[in-house]
Amino acid sequence: MTAGIDDIAIYIPRLYIDAADFAEARGLDPVKLQKGLGVSQMAIVDANQDPACLAANACLRVMEKNNLDPQDIGRLYISTESAFDESKAMNSYVIGMLEQVYGQGSFEHCGGVETKFACVSGSYALYDNTNWIRAGEAEGKSALVVVSDIAKYDMGSSGEMTQGAGAVVMLLNDKPRLLEFDPKVTSTSIKDEYDFYRPFGKETPIVHGQYSNLLYMIQVRKALESYKKKVISSNLIQMKEGETILDHMDYINMHLPYSNMGKKALAYLVRHEWRQLPRWKNILEQIGMKEPVPKDPRGTIESVLADEEFMAKDHEFTKLFTKTQEYQDVFESKLSSSLIASTMIGNLYTASLYLGFRSSLEFEYQKGVDLDGKRIGFGSYGSGSSAMVFSGVVQPEYAEIVKSMNLESEIGQRRRLTWSEYEELHENKLAPEQSKVHTKKEFVLVDIKTDVESRGERRYAFTS
Ligand code: COA
Repeated sequence: MTAGIDDIAIYIPRLYIDAADFAEARGLDPVKLQKGLGVSQMAIVDANQDPACLAANACLRVMEKNNLDPQDIGRLYISTESAFDESKAMNSYVIGMLEQVYGQGSFEHCGGVETKFACVSGSYALYDNTNWIRAGEAEGKSALVVVSDIAKYDMGSSGEMTQGAGAVVMLLNDKPRLLEFDPKVTSTSIKDEYDFYRPFGKETPIVHGQYSNLLYMIQVRKALESYKKKVISSNLIQMKEGETILDHMDYINMHLPYSNMGKKALAYLVRHEWRQLPRWKNILEQIGMKEPVPKDPRGTIESVLADEEFMAKDHEFTKLFTKTQEYQDVFESKLSSSLIASTMIGNLYTASLYLGFRSSLEFEYQKGVDLDGKRIGFGSYGSGSSAMVFSGVVQPEYAEIVKSMNLESEIGQRRRLTWSEYEELHENKLAPEQSKVHTKKEFVLVDIKTDVESRGERRYAFTS
């Protein structure tokens, strides 16, 4: 049985901090954010928003757009790394909110869980729900998989310039109009690591950014190796001599903690793949230097990062490689459109990859590209750490969905925060009723109880 993404909706908070204001306040060169990282604006949640509200708002959008009834939905999964309860799952809050609109008990048949594995958990949730449909368990119903996060880092930390917030929901079913997932090729890689984690009770993560970036690329490359084997053994794709699996992906969506990380990760994968092929000779001639190798090629990630000479040479090599026409063609045709939304919104943790997918559809369609039958590859990464590589094929009915996509209008009118407003929000100084904007027909947080018996209970409202 086939399964895949039938429709997709997003919810992005209206407030944002502009990269220029951020750079000025932190004494940074704005070009570092805009060009070095690819960050122009970072979405920030208001005082009356949490990741459950973002998720519920995204769900409502996909339900209303498709005239869905709660009975059409068999499962609702939430993937997040911004959980605020150690036991109660976020999907229960979301169902509570949706029932304010659809009626009490309207979703009671709709099972699901909250899944956690840093930024990769949404991909596991998609895979599990796809298999629920493929197994025939769905009996005609659809699944909602929501990825919702608030990427918030410590004040003054290097991660603070890669923040953002938002939710993406994917409607999955057995007659997907957007993307059908390729069967039997989803591949994973996993390793116990401490590149980025958030201990109990801490609102912001502990991040080893450069370590995490390198680990991300290594883990995705490992998952890609396994994907290649599965693609060949399952006969999904017939590879010819001198080809790489990446030649068979029309689009590649990468996990995007910030937009330029996609470019870096793609360059790493392409380099790794092309190194084995006849075309590499020509690339090396253009670059004009040998590909550097670390002093200890079998060393750890720490030893590679500590090898300053190698790191500097590798950086230089990568820069020259990304300037070659051959890499530019791959970048422009397969990745560039997926980065646009990230530049405008910032880091969405679990939702970053899927916002990129959404961005790619919208901006490729606007270019006039016919997407029917195009294969899209996904490189998902979650710190801690695990990667997942999988793919799918755009379906003939895709234009029905993609023609009305409009990122700017879906975000709505945005408000640029002043630095002091940003600081107030970051330090959680405002109560929900002191929110900066008043939105209509959206779920908002009203109250979090503090008394002993009901501490942590959250109340939400649907604004009129
Ligand atoms: N003008 C233009 N570019 C500039 C610049 C300037 N003035 N200053 C720096 N840059 C470039 C750098 O060359 C670098 O580009 P490169 O990656 O192509 O080399 C980029 O900007 C970033 O600069 P760098 O000095 O490497 O950044 P940093 O050490 O301050 O931190 C991160 C960058 C991404 C590591 C950090 O923001 C972070 O940790 N973010 C969190 C990421 C995360 O959470 N990852 C885990 C989940 S996957």
